[in-house]
Amino acid sequence: MDFKAAKPIREAMQRRLAHGVFGYSIVPQANYDAVASWFERRHGWKGITRDNLLYTTAVVPAISAIFAALQARKGKCAPLRILTFTPAYNCFFSCIENMGCELVASPLVLKDNRFEINWEDVNAKAREADVFLLCNPHNPTGRVWSRNELERMAEIMRREHLFVLSDEIHCEFAFPGHPYTPFANIVINDTDFCVCTSASKAFNIAGLLCANIFVPNTELFAQINHALEVHEVNGLNPFGLVAQVAAYNESETWLDELNEYVYGNYRYLRDFIRKELPMLTIHETEGTYLGWVNIEQTGMTAEDFCRELAEQAHVLFNPSEMYGSEHYVRINLATSREILTEALNRLKGYMKKWENR
Ligand SMILES: Cc1ncc(COP(=O)(O)O)c(C=O)c1O
Repeated sequence: MDFKAAKPIREAMQRRLAHGVFGYSIVPQANYDAVASWFERRHGWKGITRDNLLYTTAVVPAISAIFAALQARKGKCAPLRILTFTPAYNCFFSCIENMGCELVASPLVLKDNRFEINWEDVNAKAREADVFLLCNPHNPTGRVWSRNELERMAEIMRREHLFVLSDEIHCEFAFPGHPYTPFANIVINDTDFCVCTSASKAFNIAGLLCANIFVPNTELFAQINHALEVHEVNGLNPFGLVAQVAAYNESETWLDELNEYVYGNYRYLRDFIRKELPMLTIHETEGTYLGWVNIEQTGMTAEDFCRELAEQAHVLFNPSEMYGSEHYVRINLATSREILTEALNRLKGYMKKWENR
């Protein structure tokens, strides 16, 4: 994201800097309170407390540590099998591979210009898996799962005894008409689950390394806490902690403005592609700050397309091969309209040359 963090965050960090002592940190109660208050007032998610919230450096190492805890619970007899929708955030693949787990992919299907869940496939694949790794909202397709979809997922996972690990790092980016539903709000009594959240994406403080895992089951809370210790990802940066409090307690207006701007960028991208680049297709995006554009008609792989575009027009998009699929490029919309316009004009110039060759 190209935007400076909100003023209250920068000021809180300056005060922390002036303090001058930067030893190891113990997470203050103010952080637990800020997270609990934010999710309750902004998303109607009640019941977050010090007893069910773990602190960790970031979501990706947290996912690896959770896999380790779940593998220990299952025993070493066979690798943990992780069901997830594809395309998927690229680090999901690396976490699965690095932790010696097995991927069980359920590809999303395109229906009426948006990505849908193949329920038949999910039902079948759930029988082959131990864990359902959910991305809510979904990177890279920009789907914001509806309450109904989440309820259906929860029901299947409960029936098939899967543990649900929901990564909700993109929860602050939900476009009008597509509200984010916390997975914690729809779980049926004994669903086995945890949720990863962080202020990092929404408030552009990812480099400060501060994230959370909500674990309502006390036994699992202790197991995941142990895994975070073993993986050495439980040490918090003092600046990350003050930034989190300032983000959740004082930066809501900044976030609302950002959301509006990013939504405007998405509409700009969508209209530009429809009007100027009819050989490309953009699918309905409901949230995140990512555009997901189909380039199949060019006849190129997304990797070749992105490499050529970078070499010839100095514009960098992400090819869908990174996310386990073909024919798409992912465009980051968390930038100024000026940069987006420049990038799209360069893309248009590149496409003109492509048409003429
Ligand atoms: C779905 C998802 N999870 C996690 C991350 C990274 O989180 P962290 O920097 O906290 O590891 C990203 C970053 O793009 C993401 O899209």
